[in-house]
Amino acid sequence: MGGTGIAVPGAERLIWYFMRISGTLLIVLAGGHLFVTHYLNVPSETTFSFVAARWANPYWRTFDWLLLMVALWHGVLGLRYSIQDYLRSPAARAFGLGLMWALGIVFLALGTVTVFAFDAAAADANSGPLSDAMWIAEAIGLSLYVFAVVTYVSIVLLAVWVIRSLLRGQIPVYSGGPGQYAWALHRATGIGILFFLLVHIVDISLIGLGREIYDASVAYYARPVLVPMEILLVGAVVYHTLNGIRVMTIDFTGWGHRAEKISFAVVMVLSILLTLPSAWLIIRAEF
Ligand code: HEM
Repeated sequence: MGGTGIAVPGAERLIWYFMRISGTLLIVLAGGHLFVTHYLNVPSETTFSFVAARWANPYWRTFDWLLLMVALWHGVLGLRYSIQDYLRSPAARAFGLGLMWALGIVFLALGTVTVFAFDAAAADANSGPLSDAMWIAEAIGLSLYVFAVVTYVSIVLLAVWVIRSLLRGQIPVYSGGPGQYAWALHRATGIGILFFLLVHIVDISLIGLGREIYDASVAYYARPVLVPMEILLVGAVVYHTLNGIRVMTIDFTGWGHRAEKISFAVVMVLSILLTLPSAWLIIRAEF
C-alpha cells in the first residue's frame, strides 16, 4: 500500500464504527426525510413556502442539520474506501483524500449557514445580494441534468455488459457470488447518494438568497427528463438503507452471515416494493 500521509493508530477501526453508528442514525434521519419529501410530498412541492414553514420550527431546523451532518460525514468517509481502493499512487491518493476533506469542510460550512442563518422575512422580500442572480438556479438545474445523464448512461452500460455476457454464454457472476453484487450495489448507491447530497446542499442554500431564485431551482424537479433519476434516487436510498442493516446483521449477529444470500434477496424485493409507492406519486404529480 502506498503511503497517504499521517497514519493515526486505531483510526481505521474508529471509522468502521463511525460508519455503523452514523448508518443507524441515518435510518431515522434519512428515512424520516425521505418519507416527508418523497412519500407525503414530491420534490417539486418542497418550495420556499414549504421549507420556510418547516424552518419556523427550531426542532425541524435541528433535525435537518443533524441529517445533513451525519449524511455528509458518513458519505465522505464512505468515499474514502473508494479513494483507497482505486487511487493507487501515493500522490493521487493524497490528492483524493485532500479533496475529500475539503469537500466535507466546505459543505459542512455551507449547510450549517443555510439552516441556521435563514431569515424567512428577508429572503421572502427577494432583496438581498444575488437574489436576482437566476443563473445560479440555472447552474443547479444543469448539475441535476448532468447527474441524471451520468446515472442513465451508467445503467445503459451495465445493461449492455450483462446482455453481452449472457449472449456469449457467460453468466456475469462475480467469483464471490451474490454477496459481491450486494457490496458493489452498496458502493454505487452510497456514492450516488453522496454526489446528489452535495448538489442538494447547494440547491437548498439558495433559499437564503430569496424566494424566486429558490423556487426556480426547485421547479427543475418537475422536468420529465429528471423524473426517472428522482425515482432511482429513492430506490438507491431504500436499497442502501436496507442493505446497510443487512451488513450490520452480518457484522454483529451470529446468524447474519448464514442468512447472507436469503437476506440479499429480501433486501432486493423490499427495495423494489418500497420504491414503487414513491415512484407512483412522482409520476402522477409530474406527468
Ligand atoms: C440511510 C441509512 C444508511 C445506512 C443504514 C447506511 C449504512 C452503511 C454501512 C453499514 C456501510 C458499510 C461501511 C463499511 O463497509 O465499513 C455504508 C457505506 C457507505 N455509505 Fe451508507 N448508510 C446509510 C446512508 C447513507 C447515505 C445517506 C449516504 C450518502 C450520503 C451513504 C454513503 C455511503 C458510502 C459512500 C459508503 C461506502 C461504500 C463502500 O465503498 O463500500 N450512506 N453505509
